Amino acid sequence: MTIDDLLVHPDTLVVTWADNTSTSFPTIWLRDNCPSGLHPQTHERLLDLLALDASPVLTSAQIAHGDVVLSYEDGHASHMPVALLSADRRGQRASDADAIAPQLWRADMTAATVPRYAAAPILAEDHALNAWMQATAKYGIAIVDHLEDRTSAGVDVAQRIGFLRETNFGTTFEVINKPDPNNLAYTSVALPLHTDLPNQEVPPGYQFLHCLANEATGGGSLFADGFAMAEDLRTEDPEAFRLLCEVPIPFRFNDRDADIRVYEPVITLDRSGEVIEIRYNAHLAGIFDMPSEIMPDYYRAYRAYMAKTRDPKYRLTLKLKGGEMVVFDNRRVLHGRDSFDPATGFRHLHGCYVDRGEFSSRLRMLARTVSAAKAA
Ligand code: OGA
Ligand code: ZN
Repeated sequence: MTIDDLLVHPDTLVVTWADNTSTSFPTIWLRDNCPSGLHPQTHERLLDLLALDASPVLTSAQIAHGDVVLSYEDGHASHMPVALLSADRRGQRASDADAIAPQLWRADMTAATVPRYAAAPILAEDHALNAWMQATAKYGIAIVDHLEDRTSAGVDVAQRIGFLRETNFGTTFEVINKPDPNNLAYTSVALPLHTDLPNQEVPPGYQFLHCLANEATGGGSLFADGFAMAEDLRTEDPEAFRLLCEVPIPFRFNDRDADIRVYEPVITLDRSGEVIEIRYNAHLAGIFDMPSEIMPDYYRAYRAYMAKTRDPKYRLTLKLKGGEMVVFDNRRVLHGRDSFDPATGFRHLHGCYVDRGEFSSRLRMLARTVSAAKAA
């Protein structure tokens, strides 16, 4: 936006914009963000904030060649691009290609309506990669189909986004019925809805389960939007919701090689009260050890969320076929499976994770290239 007027106070610059709104910039902010304080190549800040006065004294301001030129009493002159000032709307976050509002779903999401994308265009074109990632971010789940029939085909798609997240189960994992399993997923038993690895300090973000074979009787998949269940609980039972947000519980995994534990709540909110994470895994929840005064209420709250995970109102069911891969935000969407009978056929999923930060970075990079391609 263009500037209509500049008003100089010793400690503040007041910019009046063409739309008649105005923004007050404290001089300490202006000096902290003066382009001269950044490394010319890396654009990282070199300026030492403590080397400045607490409130540098501004003496004049004028517009020249798209910059606001500011002079200070200590002799410093700043050339602040107008775009830098106009991008700053005090109290509002800068725009971010990753800021995709979750669209909550319940049983309205079905095998027929779950977003579906073919693997080949995702691998070949940024435009298709972007469309798939946008949908996955919005709904927390999507299916990629027509994958090549090789174990690494799903990983190739995941790596279009970024680095894989390594965990104590490896960089990739084979979900098959194994002898001597260290995880229920590696058996043929049913897995009720859960999030993976809530016992980690930061549980893995996006999960990729590439189906190579699903020939056995049973073995269907189930999913539910953990944010939708949390929001409904917030409305129906605010006290239960509060306890699930405020009381940390222990989550633990241990085997011969690892003992990984945290205390965290089932529901995590951001500072504005939006649900940003669900940790729910009845198998990995440790022994509840909150004070006895709150334990009965906590159990009531925990069971209320658990009851939602059993309620068909929230449930998406489908049976993955060879060549399909389900991709979901493991910190939002709960997943599970029906038991299967290994005597009736082979079932093999190949899994990996990509953390949310990697996903967000790719979305921002795509916003640069895909929108540049559109503009050209
Ligand atoms: C897992 C898991 C689901 C399945 O590996 O974490 O939940 O369908 N697997 O086997
Ligand atoms: Zn799982």
